[in-house]
Amino acid sequence: MKIDIITVVPELLESPLSHSIMKRAREKGLLEVNLHNLRKWAINKYGQVDDYQYGGGAGMVMMCEPLVNAIEELQKDTSYDEIIYMTPDGGTFNQRTANNLSLKENVLIICGHYKGIDQRIRDHYVTMEISIGDYVLSGGELAAAVVVDAVGRLLPGVLNDETSALTDSFQDNLLAPPVYTRPENFNGWEVPAVLLSGDPKKVDQWRYEQSLANTRLRRPDLLKDDL
Ligand code: ADE
Repeated sequence: MKIDIITVVPELLESPLSHSIMKRAREKGLLEVNLHNLRKWAINKYGQVDDYQYGGGAGMVMMCEPLVNAIEELQKDTSYDEIIYMTPDGGTFNQRTANNLSLKENVLIICGHYKGIDQRIRDHYVTMEISIGDYVLSGGELAAAVVVDAVGRLLPGVLNDETSALTDSFQDNLLAPPVYTRPENFNGWEVPAVLLSGDPKKVDQWRYEQSLANTRLRRPDLLKDDL
């Protein structure tokens, strides 16, 4: 999968996407991430990409021209399945969206800054708008890193144990069951006996019951959703 990202602060994305599982995914060639600095398409030698908003009010707006030039140049090489704009007024990101996006081949992500991007870009280019939650970040970069991480780890071959993404929280609209590792007894705190039983059916049943109980207790709303 290839993800191109347009940003005015590429530095904010470099580190989160260059370590651990994302690093491995990129090294294995399973995930290609390209950061494009919007200033490359600035309208003047001062690197201008934003301007005051019509109608007045505080905050700058990212201009049409640099964004259109950036998008159109990138589109010469790639036909995008989605052009995503990261914005707090987008649809809330969840595991279902991550699963769907992981099936796409080419995705372009636009990170907004300041007051956001000119509405005409949203109207004429953007095919999907994503928020990572009901709070406002200083820009779309950290949100884009969240999306790339959540999607990248789902790509076949990225995780060592292919089944481990399947047992994540939310994968069946259930939270994950509790997990334990050595020692069996730590300070008198015992690992549940069923996990030491060596009976995979019993273990599966216990995990399912724990998942269900956890979800009922902490996120009953998930059980009402139709994933
Ligand atoms: N940009 C600013 N806040 C954001 C959010 N919550 N989600 C996605 N992009 C954003």
